[in-house]
Amino acid sequence: MIVLDQENKLFTLHTQNTTYQMKADQYRVLLHTYYGPRLRGGDLSRLIQFADRGTSPNPNEAGHRRDYSLDTLPQEYSTCGVGDFRLPSIEFEPADGSRLADLRYTGFELKKGKYALPGLPAFFGGDEWETLVIHLTDSTCKMSVKLYYGVLERCDLITRAVQVVNEGGQAVQLRRCASLCLDLQGGDLDFITFDGCHAQERSLSRSPLRQGVQSVESVRGTSSHHHNPFVILCDHNANEDCGTCYGAMLVYSGNFLAAAERTHLENNRLLLGINPYHFCYTLAPGECFTAPEAALVCSPCGFGQMSRSFHRAIRENLIHDPLEGKRRPVLINNWEATEFGFDAEKLVSIAAAAAPLGIELFVMDDGWFGTRDSDFGGLGDWTVNESKLPGGLGALVPRIHDLGMSFGIWIEPEMVSEDSALYNAHPDWVLEAPNRPFARGRSQLVLDFSRKEVRDHVYGAIKQVLESAEITYVKWDMNRSLTDVWSSALPAGRQGELFHRFVLGVYDILARMRRDFPGILIEGCTGGGGRFDAGMLYYVPQFWCSDNTDAIDRLTIQYGTSFCYPVSTMGAHVSAVPNAQTGRSVSMETRGVVAMAGTFGYEMDLNHTTAEEKETIKRQVAFFKEHYELIQRGDYYRLSDPFHDPFTAWQQVSPDRREALVSLVTHANRAASPFRTVRLRGLDPQAQYRVNGGEAWPGDVLMAAGFPLPMPTGDYQAMQLYLEAE
Ligand code: DGJ
Repeated sequence: MIVLDQENKLFTLHTQNTTYQMKADQYRVLLHTYYGPRLRGGDLSRLIQFADRGTSPNPNEAGHRRDYSLDTLPQEYSTCGVGDFRLPSIEFEPADGSRLADLRYTGFELKKGKYALPGLPAFFGGDEWETLVIHLTDSTCKMSVKLYYGVLERCDLITRAVQVVNEGGQAVQLRRCASLCLDLQGGDLDFITFDGCHAQERSLSRSPLRQGVQSVESVRGTSSHHHNPFVILCDHNANEDCGTCYGAMLVYSGNFLAAAERTHLENNRLLLGINPYHFCYTLAPGECFTAPEAALVCSPCGFGQMSRSFHRAIRENLIHDPLEGKRRPVLINNWEATEFGFDAEKLVSIAAAAAPLGIELFVMDDGWFGTRDSDFGGLGDWTVNESKLPGGLGALVPRIHDLGMSFGIWIEPEMVSEDSALYNAHPDWVLEAPNRPFARGRSQLVLDFSRKEVRDHVYGAIKQVLESAEITYVKWDMNRSLTDVWSSALPAGRQGELFHRFVLGVYDILARMRRDFPGILIEGCTGGGGRFDAGMLYYVPQFWCSDNTDAIDRLTIQYGTSFCYPVSTMGAHVSAVPNAQTGRSVSMETRGVVAMAGTFGYEMDLNHTTAEEKETIKRQVAFFKEHYELIQRGDYYRLSDPFHDPFTAWQQVSPDRREALVSLVTHANRAASPFRTVRLRGLDPQAQYRVNGGEAWPGDVLMAAGFPLPMPTGDYQAMQLYLEAE
């Protein structure tokens, strides 16, 4: 609910459990007065303190009033060079070279429903949303800034976006334009980020905010394996069930900056948006720039509730699921089994071993096209390699269908190999700066997706493939970071737009694909989880979580991912042992339990499994299908911390709390292992739950005292408890 007090220029955004407020003061400076647990309302600007701070200047209108400074007051959208020395949200440069931005309130609009952003992903929904638009202006530079707020009460979600319009008569360069600025007065806060690298994505790292700026960012052109555009600020004592925490995500898939600043006055500022690195956008008179959407959830009672709010909002108001309401198929992918070394017979044999076990979709990964026998060639030539697949998809796909399976395919549209017909025909279509030899990444080059003719060509070729056979699934991969970011299609002064224009180009192709093939399930992938962000999830309902398929490494990767992203988005497969990335061997049981914390599938040649393992797989697949709703859409609870506890456990609970599934993997075993219990969450304390069809346990006992764990008899053993209320 958005409450307006027009006389006092006071704007209060209430969600189910939180309140957010801002106010334009007597100088029309938009101050942030409060964000936190829900309050009744009223003017919370009384919380703001004023004092003369010698080094903090006072704006001209304040005259000699020395206790009024932009530097000390909580700003809703921070300015630049006019008195606030903290992180600026916006910076522009008109023809005179000044780099100042001073924004003052000029008005607002209130609308039912959710705003949309041209060419950019954004949360969507009907009339349960409300939109507030606040207008600010820099009157010297004639730049107008609109701050968008979307409120989805039931998910405690507040979205934000920013539009900048050049209302003046001369071009202005926009050098920085954050999507979100959040000033939180006082309080010792921790900053949590999700960091890592290829094959070790989204490892949670937490540290107290100290005076200065702490930040994570990407300058790779993708949101990256190394840092995720999702961060948390929280109380020092916040944990899964208590403490106030603020989760902030950027709905964007390119370079980003998430920076938290703590000042000498112990004020905290969080800034999130496109990375100003290599960003400079020229706005001609009348032109508008739209910054990507950011979304906030504040939870007054710990991380668990914050995550569940994000999960619900992402599932219901961000993702477009082509199978809406239906179960997604259990798949088998051939990559780890064959890499590039396959032919039609090999693929059919992998599918044939999987079909009788209940696996429903066969995915043909990299290597089916052009001269793609290794990662040195072929990218860009999206025509079937008939020496591997005689008769093309027309011959292969019916054979898969005959096994009772559907068929999916791998593509990497943004890339080209030097050894390809496409590169030979259009060497000028890649990102490459004049007179400078380009860098290769995985021996491939990046196509200039800012150029429409390049996108049109690539999309045309991919469309032809998708129309040539009955294809129900596409894996969209992307396997290198961007270098040599220069486009022959842009003048020198506009090269700073290229990183962003590239991302818009990717979104354009994804949008076309979704429009033309609404029934195809697209899984995103960027060398694993290098672009696992809310921007991509708007176009693809699931994303390959990591190239690391080791079940034990996956515990921490999926744990970190779960802080923002729901189970139904996390691509997770059972692969062969010893694991290709770590050399570790764990049981089929354990691998299945861990993959079920995601979209669930297999990525191995099941012809090389024992009869006993096949029985286990059959059981796993049947169990997953039976409990699909609970696993994929149940409320998600983390029951332990894999970095510190002797086991990793998580739990899904049905919305009516009649059913729950607990999954648990013990870490390395030791002799004389202590007695342990796992405390469950989210159950009905009054209900009696039958555990795995056997003994009934009271909900309150399971939550307060926990369920006793069997003694592990080896490393990395897994168990699942299915609970059903009597
Ligand atoms: C990287 C992906 O993450 C893998 O799953 C696989 O598709 C390879 N690329 C293929 O080149």
